[in-house]
Amino acid sequence: MSWYHLAGKDLISTKDWTKEELEIVLKVTEELKALYYAGVPHHTLKDKTFLMLFFNPSTRTRLSFETAMTQLGGHAQYITGADLRLSLEDKPGAGETVKDTAKVMSRYAHGIGIRLLEDKVSRWGEDTEILYKFAEFADIPVINMASNSWHPCQGLTDIYTIREKLASDLKGVRYTIMWAYSPWARSLGSVQEEMLVAARFGLEVVVAHPKGYELEPEALALAKRYAEGSGGKFEVTSDLDDALKGATIVFPRGWMSLRRYEIGKEAEIKNAEKFKDWKYTRQRQKELGKPGYLMHVMPIDRGHEADPEICDDPELSWMYDQAENRLHVQKAILSLTMGGRPS
Ligand code: CP
Repeated sequence: MSWYHLAGKDLISTKDWTKEELEIVLKVTEELKALYYAGVPHHTLKDKTFLMLFFNPSTRTRLSFETAMTQLGGHAQYITGADLRLSLEDKPGAGETVKDTAKVMSRYAHGIGIRLLEDKVSRWGEDTEILYKFAEFADIPVINMASNSWHPCQGLTDIYTIREKLASDLKGVRYTIMWAYSPWARSLGSVQEEMLVAARFGLEVVVAHPKGYELEPEALALAKRYAEGSGGKFEVTSDLDDALKGATIVFPRGWMSLRRYEIGKEAEIKNAEKFKDWKYTRQRQKELGKPGYLMHVMPIDRGHEADPEICDDPELSWMYDQAENRLHVQKAILSLTMGGRPS
């Protein structure tokens, strides 16, 4: 397979792409990052437009995609859900349909990015269904810019960052993804995508959470299957100290329970308070017997999810490198899906 075969592809989750396709993204990222630092222009998407539809706020995703399109010689247009007359309910009188919105967007632009999560939907799965619906009706690639269940650009960025830091052979590298207390009640997208990608690329993935914070069954089954296929490992535990033992990398992140839409946001936040001791502390880092590099997709809830001292430790914290790599990885994703040679 050559890179130009990815033209026109949607990216809702990395699970929809083959490992070979994901490897192409990482390879092209490497090339584009080298050109960027060599000061060589790389206008792979000259005069093309990427429409970014945000239903929820963002720092990294918005800024990195917009910058990416500028560096690729194109343009990114920022739109919020409130700017359109779009209704996500498909019924007379509700508003413009997803179908008509996607069809019209396809007449102006060459790619669509969508962020839809947390309070903007009323149940688990609704966001993903809407993203696939956009993808069905759009004639141009649809890129998930974070949904409740998946965050493919983040997952790809993080495996790129891990390889950049530790080299390509990740055998025996233990990666602990731990639930951490935060009152922010966030989606599962980053955690689930991270888990899938890490298992697929051969890491020893451990997911640790208090009882009640189980991830989606589909994601867990896939992670298990990927680990079996890659020679990695996959384990879920509610014993945090055990999960941290021997961890080369730690990702502390609060996430909502699967009961969130039944019990409501306030109850969800209240329940999480029972687990305030779930935090990546300096003491825990010292005891784990391996570096325990901090990975975090950000925004990080400093003082809740991790000690600020760990966040600011230049030897331990990778989070700003992750944030930068969003730019380089997304330039690859945009170039491959919006450029190339349609089949
Ligand atoms: N990691 C991430 O998606 O950050 P933003 O929410 O700021 O875009």
